[in-house]
Amino acid sequence: MDLLKAIEERRSTRGFLDKPVGRDSLETLLRLATQAPSAINLQPWEFAVVSGEERKRLSRVLVKRMREKNISCGPGATRPLPEYFVERQRGLLNVMLPHLPEQKSFQDFINEGSCNFYGAPTAIIITIDDVFSSARLTDIGIVVGYLVLAAHDLGLGTCPIGLITAFDEDIKEELSLPEEKHVVIGVAVGYRDPDASINQPRSERASLNDMVKWRG
Ligand SMILES: Cc1cc2nc3c(=O)[nH]c(=O)nc-3n(C[C@H](O)[C@H](O)[C@H](O)COP(=O)(O)O)c2cc1C
Repeated sequence: MDLLKAIEERRSTRGFLDKPVGRDSLETLLRLATQAPSAINLQPWEFAVVSGEERKRLSRVLVKRMREKNISCGPGATRPLPEYFVERQRGLLNVMLPHLPEQKSFQDFINEGSCNFYGAPTAIIITIDDVFSSARLTDIGIVVGYLVLAAHDLGLGTCPIGLITAFDEDIKEELSLPEEKHVVIGVAVGYRDPDASINQPRSERASLNDMVKWRG
């Protein structure tokens, strides 16, 4: 598949088949993702690949903590969002609403779904060592971009899961990760369920006119 097609086609997957992703495929995926550029070639990313029963066990802990701490998916904003950002959030809600399982609110679906990695057989938890400043989070963003596109080309679905950063300590404890590592993001990885209604909606994008200022 060509790269431009993958960029156009890829959308997050929130309904996965109950089918494991083999170790070879996961290694190929990570080898491709880590071709991403990074400042001074530091490659500051680290991955914990959690599959099968281990993934389910981790999710049980996350769901429990999510309920205890009343954690909810949000924009991570430091002040109220300007209206055009609220509008984009609303756009996502509107395309997803008709495809939610019955009797689930959008928030419950996203919060529980995220903690469960939407039932994906594998969760890739990406961490960074606290020796690095927040400047290096850019590198993590790029590796996630590579990862989701490479996965698409390999026939795998993905969903980045930012919600899990709220459970940094719990995840480190469950996965026996050292204290100096920080969870930046998780990515649900698996085979996309073609019959899952929740995989049908396509998030839209704002017009370039709203995002780009041309000079010269
Ligand atoms: C940094 C980041 C964090 C995200 N966190 C979550 C999350 O916690 N739960 C979730 O369901 N989707 C999450 N997403 C997926 C976004 O909702 C999704 O990328 C966005 O709505 C655009 O849709 P698309 O990926 O289908 O193009 C996250 C995406 C990114 C890039």
